[in-house]
Amino acid sequence: MCGIFGYIGDKEKEVALMANRALCELEYRGYDSWGIAAEVSGKMFAIKAIGKISLASDKELKGVMGKMSIGHSRWATHGGVTEANAHPHFNTSRTIAVIHNGIVENHEEIRSFLRGKLGNSVDKLFLSETDTEVIPHLIDYYITHEGKTFEAAFVEAGRMLEGRYAVVVMKLGEPYLLAMRDGSPLVVGKGEHEYFLASDVPAFIDHTRQVLYPGDREYMKVSADAIMLRNLDTGKKVDREWITVTWDKGSATKEGYPHFMLKEIMEQPLSLDKAIHQEDAKLEEFARLMKESEHLFFIGCGTAAKMAKLGELYAARVAGKLTNAYVGSEFAAYGQFLNKRSTIVAVSQSGETADVLEGLRVAEKEGARILALLNVVGSSIDRMSKKSLFLNAGPEIAVASTKAATAQIAVLILIAHALAKKLPEGKHLMRSAVKDIKAWLIPDLSRDIKKIAEKLLNNPSSALLRGPTNSSPYQNTPPSLVFPRRAPETSSAISLQQYPLRDIYIIGRGLNAPVAQEAAIKIQEVSYIHAEGFPGGELKHGPIALIEKGTPVIALIPNDETKRDMESNTMELRSRGAYVIGIAPDNSKLFDEWIQVPNLGLASPIASIIPIQLLAYHLAVLRGNDPDKPRNLAKSVTVK
Ligand code: M6R
Repeated sequence: MCGIFGYIGDKEKEVALMANRALCELEYRGYDSWGIAAEVSGKMFAIKAIGKISLASDKELKGVMGKMSIGHSRWATHGGVTEANAHPHFNTSRTIAVIHNGIVENHEEIRSFLRGKLGNSVDKLFLSETDTEVIPHLIDYYITHEGKTFEAAFVEAGRMLEGRYAVVVMKLGEPYLLAMRDGSPLVVGKGEHEYFLASDVPAFIDHTRQVLYPGDREYMKVSADAIMLRNLDTGKKVDREWITVTWDKGSATKEGYPHFMLKEIMEQPLSLDKAIHQEDAKLEEFARLMKESEHLFFIGCGTAAKMAKLGELYAARVAGKLTNAYVGSEFAAYGQFLNKRSTIVAVSQSGETADVLEGLRVAEKEGARILALLNVVGSSIDRMSKKSLFLNAGPEIAVASTKAATAQIAVLILIAHALAKKLPEGKHLMRSAVKDIKAWLIPDLSRDIKKIAEKLLNNPSSALLRGPTNSSPYQNTPPSLVFPRRAPETSSAISLQQYPLRDIYIIGRGLNAPVAQEAAIKIQEVSYIHAEGFPGGELKHGPIALIEKGTPVIALIPNDETKRDMESNTMELRSRGAYVIGIAPDNSKLFDEWIQVPNLGLASPIASIIPIQLLAYHLAVLRGNDPDKPRNLAKSVTVK
């Protein structure tokens, strides 16, 4: 969470505007407030504001000329959304400016340390409620009271920090920036007599494609012409390779779409195509490492946790291999079962999710092997893993995971086939699935789903509330398909006001059970409508009590072994007045709305989730929400 940016060059440039543009590219990481600092003619220029940086006017930033600047786009953790809490944070004389992504877990102890050294009046120096503000005061303390150089004070302070962080610091009069990271992302870009520091590459891809990923507990001294990397604890020099980024700027821009989310949904034929272009040798090696182990686990969070569950199902179904999928934040409890013969496969778009990293640390401690399925090369999880496979989906900017999720499904299918030594079959299946998706995922599909979203929101009694019905859905149904065996209530028309759209439920079975849960995440996070997904079979164990006349329920009914049971679950719902949206290759009398999807066999979860991504998107936009930056969320969740 939070986007950070730093720049240093040998010529005067409009450094505040540059920081602004960079932060707009990082806004997906946090967008409740922002701030920029720059050295301008030996003085500290600083600006902070609440709200999205992309909405800031250039007026106050234009003409701010300098050779270095730092900037921050915030996702609040410690302290509310206020100007005072926005970064950068300063020492009292405002000569040192600090931006930070992550959490300083021991900030209270550092405050006590400063109190012990400087007296209780120290508390008055703090102007914000943030954990970050201890950093400039601590550096200042080491310079002013212990006579250390800026670099030595920075290192001393860095060694005291506990938690996860990426920090960039500038000091008036010093011709270099200092930065360090432990657990939170930070990437360096190298230009001609200039360097960039940022949470993610899109911040500077307009300037350079040469990037370097510093490791955990490494710090950097960066001037216009040189960069020095050292280990924070030992002070030893570290050599790291420069990598050339190959993806286009185009993949990090909206390309004419109103939102990244829609763009990323619509480009799935392409991202899936890229995802399945995996080298056979790499897939086979990955599968070999998995097979070698006695205990196999998948872990992930949010959408990636649902995909991890699919990984478990595919491994079972295709390769007859027992694995267990867990949510990253709950994985520590299983540490007791891990040893050298265990393998953990981390599933993550960003490769930076704190809860997954936490689970992996537990695994690492027990000597387990770590493998990863990621979208971001060089990310923290990538660096922890013995072998990573990449989704090749290009940068995913919208907070809601769409193209990365389907790419995860595609690669998990290939991995399962590699595990079963049936890779050619898996590749054939996926190539044909991608072809079908290309023909189906066209603007017309989005338009049709928008109409359904409008209907749900307008909640016309004609659509959502069935009038008195003469034909019972039980009439032509064998009793065994019906639960419970009694005739449905006949409903009378109910007024709109009685049933505003409150909830949406999604059901699926087998491979589509985790998809139903993923569908709920999509709807919740961007439309802010309460949604829940569960296995169809679970309905009668509780959730069916929630169904009223007009309650929208989405039924995922692929042409597989779950079809018959899903139809009977749908019947159960319909007979209680649910408004059924069927996502299926074939139409059915059970559906009030039918979204036709291609018949993709094992890849049916991809066909099931895409219409719901579109439905969530349209519900969000129709309700006036920003689907790219939903409230309270951030793209990379780098805090526990
Ligand atoms: O980067 P990751 O895949 O590790 O992120 C995990 C979750 O935070 C993420 O999938 C989140 O649930 C999405 N916003 C859902 O769309």
